[in-house]
Amino acid sequence: MRVRLALALVALFTGSVLVSMAGAQTQVALTPPMGWNSWNYFAEKVDDKGIRAAADQIVATGMKDAGYVYVNIDDTWEGERDANGVIHSNSKFPDMKALADYVHSKGLRIGIYSGPGTKTCAGYAASLGHEQQDAKTYAEWGIDYLKYDLCSFTPDVMEKRSPHDKAVQMKLMTDAYEKMGKALAEATKATGRPIVYSLCQYGWDSVWEWAPALGGNLWRTTGDIDASWDRIYAIASQQAGLEGYAGPGHWNDPDMLEVGNGHLSLAENRTHFSWWALLAAPLLAGNDLPNMKPEIKAILTNKDVIAIDQDPLGKQGKRAYSEGEVEVWTRELQGGGTAVAVINVGSDRYSTHPFHLDLKRLGLAGGQTGKNLWTGETVTLRDREPIELASHDILLVRVDHPKR
Ligand code: GLA
Repeated sequence: MRVRLALALVALFTGSVLVSMAGAQTQVALTPPMGWNSWNYFAEKVDDKGIRAAADQIVATGMKDAGYVYVNIDDTWEGERDANGVIHSNSKFPDMKALADYVHSKGLRIGIYSGPGTKTCAGYAASLGHEQQDAKTYAEWGIDYLKYDLCSFTPDVMEKRSPHDKAVQMKLMTDAYEKMGKALAEATKATGRPIVYSLCQYGWDSVWEWAPALGGNLWRTTGDIDASWDRIYAIASQQAGLEGYAGPGHWNDPDMLEVGNGHLSLAENRTHFSWWALLAAPLLAGNDLPNMKPEIKAILTNKDVIAIDQDPLGKQGKRAYSEGEVEVWTRELQGGGTAVAVINVGSDRYSTHPFHLDLKRLGLAGGQTGKNLWTGETVTLRDREPIELASHDILLVRVDHPKR
C-alpha cells in the first residue's frame, strides 16, 4: 500500500515537472513547425543563393500565406573554427547574418543544422565542446531553429567512452541533447529570439519519452525518409502508438516531406502530405521550389489539409484499425470535430470488391456529413460504405459535427 502511495506521488511529481518544463517551451512550436529544408532535394549542393531563392519562392507561391515560415539550412554550411573556437560558415555561405536578415525581411524565419559530435553526418564541423559558443553564434546571426543531428557522436563519444554498456551510451546521448537545449535557452535570453530545438537521433532510446523535458520541440522518430512510397509507408506505420507523446510545443517528427521529389505518383504525394497532417507532423517541404509543378503546389498549399496539421488542439491522429491493405486513421480536432482518413496502402480496390468502412470502429454512429478535403465536395460517410480507392490513394474527410 505504502509502495503504491509512493509511486503515485512520484508519478504526480514527475508529471508536474514535465508540465511546468513543457510550459516553459510553449513559446514556440505551439503547432507543428512549417517551412522548407534544403536536404531532401539539394543535399550538399545547398548555398546562399539557393536559400534566398527558396525564401523568395515561399512568398511567391503562396506557401507563406498557407503557413510555411521556416527556411532551414541543413548539413554542409559549416566552415572552420577560428583561433577562439568560433564557427564560421564555408564559402557557399559568405555571410550568415546577412542571409538571416534577408530571410527575415521576407517575414520568414531561418533554421540551421549541427550535431553533438565532432562531425556532422556529411563530415563537416559539429558542436562537441563548443555547444555554448555555437548557440551564441546562432543567436547572434538571428537563427530561429536548430536541427541537432547525432551522427558522429555515436563513434566519437558513446562507443569510445563506453564500448560495451549501452545504458551508459544512452545517458551520454541524452546529456548531450540536454547540454545544447540549455545552451540555446541561455543564448536566446540575450536576444529574446527563441530557437526551435529539433532533435535528430533517429528515434533511439524512445526519444519521445525524454525529449520534451530537456527542451526539445520536435524529435525524429525514425531513420531517414526517401522519396519512395515504401519508405513513406514504413515511417507512417511506425508512428502508430506515439500519439500520446505529441502536443503543443513538442511533436513527433516522422522526417521532412518528400512531396514533389523522386517519382512519387500524385496519389502518393497526396497521401504522404495528408498522413503527415493527421500525425501532427512538422510540415517541412523538401522539394525544388523554383521548379515546383502546379499540382505539387496545390498539394503543399491545400489549406484544409494544413488546417488538420495545424489544429490548435494539437492531438496527433491515430490508427483506428486496419483491414488488410487498407488503414483507417482518425484525428480529433478542436471543437469536437474529427478527421477520418481511409488509406489504401496496397493495390487498387475496384467496385467489384470495394473496402467497407465500419464507423462503429471509429466510435461513430450513423451517417457522418463532412468535407472531402481533396475534392472539396460535401460527402456523407455511412456505415458499411463501399469505398473504391486507387493504389496508395487516400480519402480524407473532415467531419465538424460527428455523431457518436
Ligand atoms: C542525417 C539526417 C538527415 C540529414 C543528413 C545530413 O542523415 O537524418 O535528415 O540532415 O543527416 O547530412
